[in-house]
Amino acid sequence: MSAHKSLNGRRVIVIGGGSGIGLAAARRASELGAEVTIAGRGAERLERAAADFPNPVRTKVLDVRKEDDVQVFFSETGPFDHLVVTAGELKHGSGKLTELDTSSAREQFESRFWGPYLAVRHGASAIREHGSVTLISGFFGDKAIPGASVPSAVHGAIENLARVLAVELAPVRVNVVSPGYADTPLHDGLTAEQKQAWFEQTAPTLPVRHIAEADELADAILFLIGNGYTTGVTLTVDGGARLV
Ligand SMILES: NC(=O)c1ccc[n+]([C@@H]2O[C@H](COP(=O)([O-])OP(=O)(O)OC[C@H]3O[C@@H](n4cnc5c(N)ncnc54)[C@H](OP(=O)(O)O)[C@@H]3O)[C@@H](O)[C@H]2O)c1
Repeated sequence: MSAHKSLNGRRVIVIGGGSGIGLAAARRASELGAEVTIAGRGAERLERAAADFPNPVRTKVLDVRKEDDVQVFFSETGPFDHLVVTAGELKHGSGKLTELDTSSAREQFESRFWGPYLAVRHGASAIREHGSVTLISGFFGDKAIPGASVPSAVHGAIENLARVLAVELAPVRVNVVSPGYADTPLHDGLTAEQKQAWFEQTAPTLPVRHIAEADELADAILFLIGNGYTTGVTLTVDGGARLV
C-alpha cells in the first residue's frame, strides 16, 4: 500500500514533468489516482514520458520562461489542485563570479527562479483552496561552494519566495523540496562514463552513501502535496550533502 494519500479526483500539473524528479512525481500522482498534466519544452520528451504512465496523462509544450505562454497555458487548464514546478537546467550559471558571464548568471535565474515565479503568478488563481504549490531548490543554497554562487542565490531566492507565498496564497500551501545529488537527465551534459565516475566518487562522501533516485525526491513532493498541515517549509532531501 502507498504511504501517500489518494489523489482520486485531483488535478495535478507538473512543469518539468517530462523527466527526472518531475516525471517521478507525476507518475506517483497518477498512480494515486490524480488527473495529471506534464509540461516542458520538448514535445518528444513529453510523449515518451507519457507513454510509460499507468493512466492517461496530458502533455503540454511550455517554456516556463515565456510569460505570455505561461499565461495562455493556465488560462486553458481550468481549476486544478496541485502545482509542481521542477523545470530547470544546468547549462548556465556555474563558475566563479569574477569569471562568469553575466548573461549566463541571468539565464540561470530565468529558468530556475523566474520560471517558477511566472508559473505561480499565473497559475495561483486556478488552484483550489485545499491545493498546493511545490517548488524545487537544492542543497547549494545551504553551502558555500566556490563557483556555485549563482545556483546558491537561486535556491535561496526560491525558498524565501515560497515562505512568503505560503502566507500570501493561503489557504493554498506552498513548499519547496531541496535535493542533493540525484541521478536524472539533468546531468546528461556529461558522458555516461563521466557521470558514473562522478557518482562513484561522490556517493561514499555522503552520509547516506548513495546518489538519490528521482523517486526519493518524488516521495518528498508527494508528502508535501498530501500533508494538509505543511506550508512555507523547505524539505531537504539531500542525503546529508549539506553537512559534509
Ligand atoms: N538532479 C539533481 O542532482 C538536482 C540537484 C539539485 C537541484 N535539482 C533541481 O531539480 C530540478 C529538476 O531537476 P531534474 O534532476 O529532475 O532534471 P531533469 O531531468 O533535467 O528535469 C528538468 C525538466 O525541466 C524541463 N525544463 C527545463 N527548462 C524548462 C523550461 N524553461 N520550461 C519548461 N520546462 C523546462 C526539462 O524538459 P525540456 O528540456 O524538454 O524543457 C526537463 O524535463 C531542476 O531545477 C534542478 O536544478 C536537481
